Amino acid sequence: MDNLDIKTKTPLIKINTDPTSYTVLVNKEYPMPKDYVPQDLTIPNVSYSYSGIYEKSYMRSVAASAIEKMFAEAKKKEKFELKVVSAYRSYSRQKAIYENNVNMRGEEETMMVSAPPGCSEHQTGLAVDVSSDTVKYTLEESFALSPEGKWIAKNCHNFGFIIRYPKGKSNITGYSYEPWHLRYVGVNLATYIHKKKITLEEYYKTTTVECKIY
Ligand code: DAL
Ligand code: ZN
Repeated sequence: MDNLDIKTKTPLIKINTDPTSYTVLVNKEYPMPKDYVPQDLTIPNVSYSYSGIYEKSYMRSVAASAIEKMFAEAKKKEKFELKVVSAYRSYSRQKAIYENNVNMRGEEETMMVSAPPGCSEHQTGLAVDVSSDTVKYTLEESFALSPEGKWIAKNCHNFGFIIRYPKGKSNITGYSYEPWHLRYVGVNLATYIHKKKITLEEYYKTTTVECKIY
């Protein structure tokens, strides 16, 4: 039977678990296949916080074009120096990062900041961690208070990105606030999520079929 909205008793949208879809939901409850590797990974023409090319330099082509446009606009309009810190991660790379975090910080703390292998949006090729010179290209909460972080929060939906782990939503997303972690979901869905101040989880768990975003 369909999952129904409590108030209207109308069916809710189906949770998208197709890893190839740019609106896929990936979290600890909905992991992705271990062997999933996006087929259209490319290197966006943007600045990076490091030199050289690595696995983490890649993104899916749709997200790569979007980040190019966003960084170009931020530079043109505001003279911001945004850089990509980390984008695509394979299952095995995420496993190494997660295990390293568990060893360094313990399981409880790691749970809130690092996804277990198979549960990271970075494996979709649609997620990207960004930062700016004003916070020395670190991934810290202070990015949210920088002019660049504020601009990202206000404008990223126009390029198809959402701040995937917003402040005050840890109980829903399962992660601490990450103002630097952007997820490409397309302009329509990103704009809807931004305007409603919801998370991707809330979109899938509360939206009725009539309100589905395409
Ligand atoms: N830091 C995010 C949750 C990740 O590891 O994918
Ligand atoms: Zn991230």
